[in-house]
Amino acid sequence: MCGIVGAVSQRNVVPMLIEGLRRLEYRGYDSCGIAVHRTGKPRRARCTARVNSLARTISDIHLEGSLGIAHTRWATHGAPATMNAHPIFSRDLIAIVHNGIIENHESLKAMLVEQGYEFQTETDTEVIAHLVHSFYDGDLLSAVMRSTHMFRGTYAIAAFSNSEPGRMVGAREGSPLVAGIGETETFLASDALALAGYTNRFVFLEDGDVVDLKPGQVTVWDRDRRSVERPNRLIEQSLEDTSLGSFSHYMQKEIFEQPLAITNTLANVASLGSSIFEDADRSTFENVDKVLLLGCGTSHHAGLVARQWFESVARVPAQAEIASEFRYREQCHDPRTLVVPVSQSGETADTLAALKYAQAMGLDNTLAIGNVANSAMMRAARSRFQTRAGVEIGVASSKAFTTQLVALFLLAATLGRVRGTLSSQQETSYLQQLHKLPVACRAVLAKEPQVIAWANEISTRESAFYLGRGVHFPIAMEGALKLKEIAYIHAEAYAAGELKHGPLALVTPDTPAVVSAPNDALLDKLKSNMQEVRARGGQLFVITDNGAGIPSGSGTRTLETGAHFGLLSPILHVLPMQLLAYHSGCARHTDIDKPRNLAKSVTVE
Ligand code: G6P
Repeated sequence: MCGIVGAVSQRNVVPMLIEGLRRLEYRGYDSCGIAVHRTGKPRRARCTARVNSLARTISDIHLEGSLGIAHTRWATHGAPATMNAHPIFSRDLIAIVHNGIIENHESLKAMLVEQGYEFQTETDTEVIAHLVHSFYDGDLLSAVMRSTHMFRGTYAIAAFSNSEPGRMVGAREGSPLVAGIGETETFLASDALALAGYTNRFVFLEDGDVVDLKPGQVTVWDRDRRSVERPNRLIEQSLEDTSLGSFSHYMQKEIFEQPLAITNTLANVASLGSSIFEDADRSTFENVDKVLLLGCGTSHHAGLVARQWFESVARVPAQAEIASEFRYREQCHDPRTLVVPVSQSGETADTLAALKYAQAMGLDNTLAIGNVANSAMMRAARSRFQTRAGVEIGVASSKAFTTQLVALFLLAATLGRVRGTLSSQQETSYLQQLHKLPVACRAVLAKEPQVIAWANEISTRESAFYLGRGVHFPIAMEGALKLKEIAYIHAEAYAAGELKHGPLALVTPDTPAVVSAPNDALLDKLKSNMQEVRARGGQLFVITDNGAGIPSGSGTRTLETGAHFGLLSPILHVLPMQLLAYHSGCARHTDIDKPRNLAKSVTVE
């Protein structure tokens, strides 16, 4: 989703802005642009192609400047067209980049048109540019402050005025924005990652903040326009190896990185307890009557799996909620609820809002599970656990999901330990099982050739069912989501026992059903459900365990993941589903790492 980078310096900032945009590409975008201050009027370059192509244009036209802002846009208001790409100018004086949605843009636009402003784009952002211009009297900071009071919605903004050469102003409400401080230059970005190598000193802005940046100097004002000291955080960011190596796509690379990501997530976990979780103590776990898991997309599926672990391992009632639904529903909540937002990015607008909604209801025992340190969610929660998946570039989440599951299992087991529902023998056995996961994952990933053969068949179909029961039903949901995202094949997940209540009517020889069939207590029930599909000519693609007694035969193909892995089995069963979506996408020549219409980091509602 939209990414912002800005810099004010005494040297040419364009190479740094381009590098920053490259590092934000993973968020997903459909156009990009850059603008720099120039004597006379600002200059810009924009395009609907990739950042590399923008970089070529910039070098062709010799765009340079010591003050500049840049943007990757993921269209919300207005088509992905060059004219709608940011930076957006107002009367060649004010330049703006924006991430978020100004909900009252229509009424603001009507007011600005009356004042004589002409709109050249279909974006909501253009009202920001003109509004700032309308308040501008030589002081950009006060113009931005006056403007932000009139916005409803979400925004992260970086702006400059062409008549103030050494100054950039930013503002944030709901969308991420971080200021970076160098010796003689300052920066703004949607993600600290964009500034790696340029500074390691950051100020994470809070909602309502406005920030004034001059070379080497950052001043922050809060919502009430009082000057505030926000903590400076030193963050050493290693520029991770983001090369593809021998892989064809980031998604494939990230699928195969899962054993390492799990190993890293489990590093330093020798026993269960509050010390595994940053800023947690016994009280985080002792006074808990209920667990509330909040998330979107794949992270919500992790919550759905974990819900069952909290109930079976910790014996605590648990609820997994889609964040975008939760945030708008009236709730009756137990004050002794542990709220667990789950998010790869830690910036997903709906999950962040759901967390804040829960906090506003007085639920202050919050523990975030996220993959990005210092993200808004990790900062907003009282305690946290960082998964160590490393940077995930593919839009469709893979290694973040399995490490979220590991983190959630640690949380459920810790809760069980503190509450006394888990014996020390069980603790030892769960920990041993967790530490065996990477090897077990490797064995499943080695079955890629078999999955490719499945993908060759499934990729020719227009729709598929995914079936599972119990803790494997959310895995079926995740498998179906992956096939939709990556292969653009309609896929629907069903709790296998529910098939006969409607969807069975759609089963024909052309409808494959991918089944997660672990060798557990529900296996016999699941076998009956599979028979219901076979009896209607449906083709079965079954992910199962050794000894489950599901032979490959006519109309049924099986892939064995190894011995049944107990409660952690969902982590193994999802791997062939990720590979199936990936290879089906390859067979259909889709844009695997940047699927159409999707974004990695969804910072708007
Ligand atoms: C987007 C991504 C999904 C992800 C979801 C939640 O839709 O494409 O892969 O699951 O956001 O993201 P989060 O960062 O909160 O886990």
